[in-house]
Amino acid sequence: MGEPKIKKICFVASEAQPFFASGGLGDVIGSLPKRILKNSKGEYELSIILPLYEKLNQGYKNKLIYVGNTITRLSWRNQYCGIFKYEENGIKYYFIDNEYYFKRDNFYGYFDDAERFAFFSKAAIDVMLFLDMIPDIIHVHDWQAGMLLVYLRTLYYNDEHFKKVKTIFTIHNIEYQGIYAYDQDIIEDVFGLSMNDGYLLEYDGKVNIMKGAMEAANAVSTVSPSYAEEILQKEFAHGLEYETNRVKKEGKLRGILNGIDKIFYNPAKDKALFSNYDRKDFSKKAENKEELQAMLALPVDDKIPMIGMVTRLVAHKGLDLVKEIFEKLLQEKVQIVILGTGDQYYEGYFKDLEYLYENKLRVIIAYNQDLSRKIYASSDLFLMPSIAEPCGLSQMIASRYGAIPIVRSTGGLKDSIIDFSHENGNGYTFESLDAKDMLEVIKKALKDYQDKELWHHQMAMVMNKDFGWSTSAKQYIKMYEEILNK
Ligand code: GLC
Repeated sequence: MGEPKIKKICFVASEAQPFFASGGLGDVIGSLPKRILKNSKGEYELSIILPLYEKLNQGYKNKLIYVGNTITRLSWRNQYCGIFKYEENGIKYYFIDNEYYFKRDNFYGYFDDAERFAFFSKAAIDVMLFLDMIPDIIHVHDWQAGMLLVYLRTLYYNDEHFKKVKTIFTIHNIEYQGIYAYDQDIIEDVFGLSMNDGYLLEYDGKVNIMKGAMEAANAVSTVSPSYAEEILQKEFAHGLEYETNRVKKEGKLRGILNGIDKIFYNPAKDKALFSNYDRKDFSKKAENKEELQAMLALPVDDKIPMIGMVTRLVAHKGLDLVKEIFEKLLQEKVQIVILGTGDQYYEGYFKDLEYLYENKLRVIIAYNQDLSRKIYASSDLFLMPSIAEPCGLSQMIASRYGAIPIVRSTGGLKDSIIDFSHENGNGYTFESLDAKDMLEVIKKALKDYQDKELWHHQMAMVMNKDFGWSTSAKQYIKMYEEILNK
């Protein structure tokens, strides 16, 4: 018997830390592959294909190595596809260069997103062909990369190169599906497919890229066990419940909880913090709070409990619950710091209240890594009242930084935070969608805060909880091996 064959895993996704990220997807793509590689003990080789956005910082831009270029055909379009490479921790990153599609201020939100990400998906296939890379597994994330799976099922169905390739599609949030009107314009003219293949993408009379990817993949996963159950229900599936139930019936659906990168998020080393600390000695955490209070022009007082929220300001993050009790909460001895961007409606609401409660509330409308880390380190409590939460990473990061989570038990929040009333509790939880219930839980937490001994005990429980990737990486490897052996 010779050496075991090295298996090639190729991730395709639209963002990855530390290059560029707009949310949790970027964190996961930046950290999961490293752990899979480590756990595979030399049996896997890992590469990641990403778009080359304008936003990549100059430091990384300078490190990219030009590999070559090819042409990506998208219907009648012949588009330039430049290929750049960067290698770190044994992982090969390939960046797809096309300024027409990616030299823009933001990642998403353009009228031609369907075309931009169909290009990205098709170009990812061209990169594999150019490099003569035949992956054993292509692991595709979210709808932006989803067309790749549809192309493998259609245009490349008989292509020798991809004959043995197995595929996985991971749903990071079922709310964003890539939905467009169903017509020849998009199927033929944009995607370059035949109308005969349209059925793969058709759902509810529309083009639905997430559905097409789920249909075409060998396995479908999502980012927590509870969310894998929830998305079978109408209330969580955003219309996709027929498809989720179908893949479940086929035995194709599973949920694997995300983890966080414990090196990337480490209060003992994090350069963004005013003072570093660890779980053996968190006395310096208070220094962070006082510095942040000063920086944000809040009253500087270590004894006032601080509640942090780092969140996209959108409805499913539970902001209507917060709104309902917010002014009541602000009557308490408390400081609240909110960081995020999103719907103007919420941005405006919180910003307006800042003027009324200038000694208690700070609202910063931005996506800012540095400030978010300062908030995690300074907060005593971290509020996450999501209506739905596929996994959620903030509760894990907050825990690592000793900010005790208060969460609504749903999706990954339910799978990661257990109420202190249980033996292994690591946070405060509530279930109902009644804002008054949430307020009661927050008030209980504020009261507990006054009991220093209890608080330190709870902080130790929270910081000791291991949210690293090791368990989940094993589950991903198990899934890979299962589909490889099918
Ligand atoms: C999405 C989800 C979030 C999850 C993240 C990474 O942003 O909304 O819950 O943690 O993806 O999988």
